[in-house]
Amino acid sequence: MNGQRLDTETINHIKNSVDIVDIISSYIPLTSRGRNLFGVCPFHDDTNPSMSVSREKQIFTCFSCGATGTVFKFLQDYENISFIEAVKMCADKAGISINIKSSNTKTKDNELYNMYDIAATLYQNNLNTDAGLEAKKYLYDRKLDDKIIKKFKLGLSLNDNKLEKLLNKYDNSLKDRSGLFNKSNFKYYDTFSDRIIFPIEDLNGNIVAFSGRIYKEYKDEKPSKYKNSKETEIFKKGNILYNYRNAKEDARKQNKIIIMEGFLDLFRAYQIGVKNVVISMGTAVTKEQALLLKKMAKDVILCFDGDQAGAHATYSCANELIKLGITPKVVRLPDNLDPDEFILKNGGEEFKRILDNPINIMEFKLEYLKNNKNLDNSTDMSEYVNDILKELDKINDDILREITINKISKQTGLDTDLLKSKLSNKKEEVKKEIVIPKTPKKTNMYVKAEQYLLYYMLNNAEVIKLYQKHIGYMPTDKYRALAFEIYYFYKTNKYINVSDLMISLNDDNEKLNTINEINLLNLNDNYTTEQILDYIKTIKNYNIKVESKRLRELMKLEIDPLKKAEYAQKILEIQKNNEEVDKYDE
Ligand code: CTP
Ligand code: MN
Repeated sequence: MNGQRLDTETINHIKNSVDIVDIISSYIPLTSRGRNLFGVCPFHDDTNPSMSVSREKQIFTCFSCGATGTVFKFLQDYENISFIEAVKMCADKAGISINIKSSNTKTKDNELYNMYDIAATLYQNNLNTDAGLEAKKYLYDRKLDDKIIKKFKLGLSLNDNKLEKLLNKYDNSLKDRSGLFNKSNFKYYDTFSDRIIFPIEDLNGNIVAFSGRIYKEYKDEKPSKYKNSKETEIFKKGNILYNYRNAKEDARKQNKIIIMEGFLDLFRAYQIGVKNVVISMGTAVTKEQALLLKKMAKDVILCFDGDQAGAHATYSCANELIKLGITPKVVRLPDNLDPDEFILKNGGEEFKRILDNPINIMEFKLEYLKNNKNLDNSTDMSEYVNDILKELDKINDDILREITINKISKQTGLDTDLLKSKLSNKKEEVKKEIVIPKTPKKTNMYVKAEQYLLYYMLNNAEVIKLYQKHIGYMPTDKYRALAFEIYYFYKTNKYINVSDLMISLNDDNEKLNTINEINLLNLNDNYTTEQILDYIKTIKNYNIKVESKRLRELMKLEIDPLKKAEYAQKILEIQKNNEEVDKYDE
């Protein structure tokens, strides 16, 4: 882990040496409008430009999903890296050298991570013992070498129930939750036995699950080829792409990410130097996984198995991507081969050649939807044409639509104008509207005054001073907490800006969410002192109203006449103070 903590000064210096606009626009296109820039938010499923980036404030804010933060937060979430790694990235860009190891420093607050680490080490060791010879031989026979074994941390689970002993010190609840054991008669048995183990890492590089493959000949009852860890609190299969962390850099460099199905496919591609590959591990690609692919590179290439199941997987994965505005490309392998088999049969160069010549998604869909249809039969033909038109409607690419229309016209003899007229989504608007939402909820004037005041406090020392001088208090808990943070930051640092404040709040999500809520107001950044005093007065009136109400209620409950009089006095005082303040304000 890193030996050194970075101090706030260095962190802020690094932040100020880069421009959030440059960094974000290197990932997603931004268009400027007014004082902000807008782009499609990469953190939720969207094709509208709902994310704004402020050069002035050095923050980004998504009106739709609520993602918000500094350049570091953007990099953390986009790249799935730790805070320190994000700082390091910016430092590198700004040419600032910092003495910190860029390892993943996310703390492993969940013991399950440690249990999985221990298990992975055990499995790796097993593979290098005599008991592992047969498994090793199997791997070599499948033309996997030691480099691959090491790189992907392959291992072997034996039939020795050793993991249970190794993880002795963990309590039963953890053992139950880990998914590493089967329980029977209150005894724990290792989930994996006699399988070659493929450790599965999450997006941060923590081992969170295993997949195990059989490697022996079985005479009668053959167990299923692969067995996978069940889902746990740290493992959600649909949120992970296997090899994500390794592939990320190469995908970025080539602006191309390839998705395949199986472990062997990936390893084989890796051996021939194709490293921008992730795999789905044989299940349907989820929306979350599609979002990850979208973030990895502009070009997404689907290279699933050449069989019918692979065609279905291609179709379904393509649709998930199309929903996110991505038009993927497709490689179909001949003779039902998977990438592993194809490379072994035809060589790496031939594979790279076809990888460089993918077909477009509509070409694939034309084939896919034609399957089992006889185009000489008019029912089949009409169904086919309607299916294609439906698919075309979902595609954003004008040229691809034109090309496809021409193709089906040739194929079916139908007029291109007729086909075009059937498209419901005839012309894609070139520019999507940038929608800046109005103040979202109906709020009462007091709450509004708190929000507006906070908005200006986030960026102006003068407003903080006014707040502190005149009230120093807000009725709503979360706003009061944030106002205090702002004041505290200003007191300690003698300046204020929202991005540095956000960094100082670290992982205090509650307060960050409040800042986000306030940022979303998107008010005019110019203010007048009168305006600020007006908010203050409103809040003060409210405080007084609440306090007098409270005192009146207490007074009502009180039987002691002396104490009753005390309350009455207090109420009068509050109201008098209020009038004095009003005079001052005028
Ligand atoms: N898979 C799985 N469970 C299964 C079958 C497959 O989890 N019962 C996953 C594995 O990740 C596997 C991928 O789906 O790598 C693709 O399956 P398949 O094509 O059958 O396996 P291959 O990768 O081709 O593996 P092998 O060559 O060893 O058969
Ligand atoms: Mn396969």
